[in-house]
Amino acid sequence: MLTTAPRGTRDILPEEAVRWQYVEQVIRECCNLYGYGEIRPPLFEHTELFQRSVGEATDIVEKEMYTFKDRGGRSITLRPEATASTVRAYLEHNLNAGPQPVKMYYLGPMFRYDRPQAGRYRQFSQFGIEAIGAQDPTVDAEVIAVALGLCSRLGLTELEVELNSIGCPQCRQDYRQALLSYLGEHKDNLCTTCLNRMDRNPLRVLDCKEESCREVTAKAPRMLEYLCPECAEHFKTVQGCLQGIGAKHVLNPTLVRGLDYYTKTVFEITWSGLGAQTAICGGGRYDGLVEECGGPSTPGVGFAMGLDRLLLAIEETGITLPSQNQPVAYVVAVSKADNQEAFTILTRLRRAGIASDKDYRETSLRAQLKAANRCGARFTVLVGGVERTRGAVAVRHMVTGEQQEVPLSQLTTFLQEGM
Ligand code: HAM
Repeated sequence: MLTTAPRGTRDILPEEAVRWQYVEQVIRECCNLYGYGEIRPPLFEHTELFQRSVGEATDIVEKEMYTFKDRGGRSITLRPEATASTVRAYLEHNLNAGPQPVKMYYLGPMFRYDRPQAGRYRQFSQFGIEAIGAQDPTVDAEVIAVALGLCSRLGLTELEVELNSIGCPQCRQDYRQALLSYLGEHKDNLCTTCLNRMDRNPLRVLDCKEESCREVTAKAPRMLEYLCPECAEHFKTVQGCLQGIGAKHVLNPTLVRGLDYYTKTVFEITWSGLGAQTAICGGGRYDGLVEECGGPSTPGVGFAMGLDRLLLAIEETGITLPSQNQPVAYVVAVSKADNQEAFTILTRLRRAGIASDKDYRETSLRAQLKAANRCGARFTVLVGGVERTRGAVAVRHMVTGEQQEVPLSQLTTFLQEGM
């Protein structure tokens, strides 16, 4: 137990972390381009925030939250998602008083007691954006454009955007009735989970992956036919905007999303190569959420992208991202007596901004040269021998094998020119 990470968690080791850093850097550039500023909310919140926002009858709140009492007796939950925190922060810091919408993004770990499998973890990372304070359907389209823009910058193109509208509470009420009476007629073919869900949250039945339920829901009434004129107009404009920017999408009338706060537009971006976990990104509009969290009626829209899945998709597609940075110079002590001087030179190189490393094992010169080769450094700096008595070092170019004496005073410039 001491030597294994908890189930559903994993270590991202330095070599893989370089790819994460690259993706995170592209994300930051992308957000900057679209005018989203970073928010860093806490990793835990009061449990009630998620109960109120994500919804009591959702899988997340019912079975997936890491909830505990802190030493002060408060119920605390590790964040399973960050939309709720972003809305809480919007209210806590009176961001509604400034220009709207407030556009924010976040990056970081989320926690859900999910059943772990490839692409599904108990600690996973999300990149998400939220635009709070605008009803304009172009914001819905912008949010989808950010997700697609990011994927295309990373070279991931074979994606599918699934789109639906689940209307507002008013039109959804009529739909709910129609759906309930349809499902009531097909109760015999629904799984037990759906039968339990039906009364509390019948829309979730549309999301069930059981074959028998899918057969029932394939012929169920469709929300798009129940949209009120305002919701229908909104959805039409979102689709028009997406067409206008060449963002291909398909309508998926059974797409309802697993969180309760959505209104109007909902979407998912899938990549079929991921096996069972095809959703890379999910989001939508949440016009009732700010009010639900105790604020004034304020619209909002956003998405979150699973970075673990995004990186898996990048890897599966064969896209090469930068691999671990290799040092420019590898400093080698010719003899044990040169070790301290080698360390001084190494530090000087690093202070000059030259990525460098050294062998710390005090082994033979041969072994050190081998290590220099293995780590992929461009130059090996040999400290010792006659060169040291002349205040110089021998620098070997690791590709050409050429070696030359370089005075210590010129070493950093010499390496910088070769970088
Ligand atoms: P979500 O659909 O629950 O939405 O999660 C978004 C994405 O996070 C998923 O599409 C998936 O890529 C990733 N994800 C979720 N659970 C796991 C897991 N156990 N392991 C690995 N990846 C996972 C939300 O979280 C909403 N807050 C999105 C949103 C933002 N809606 C509006 N604004």
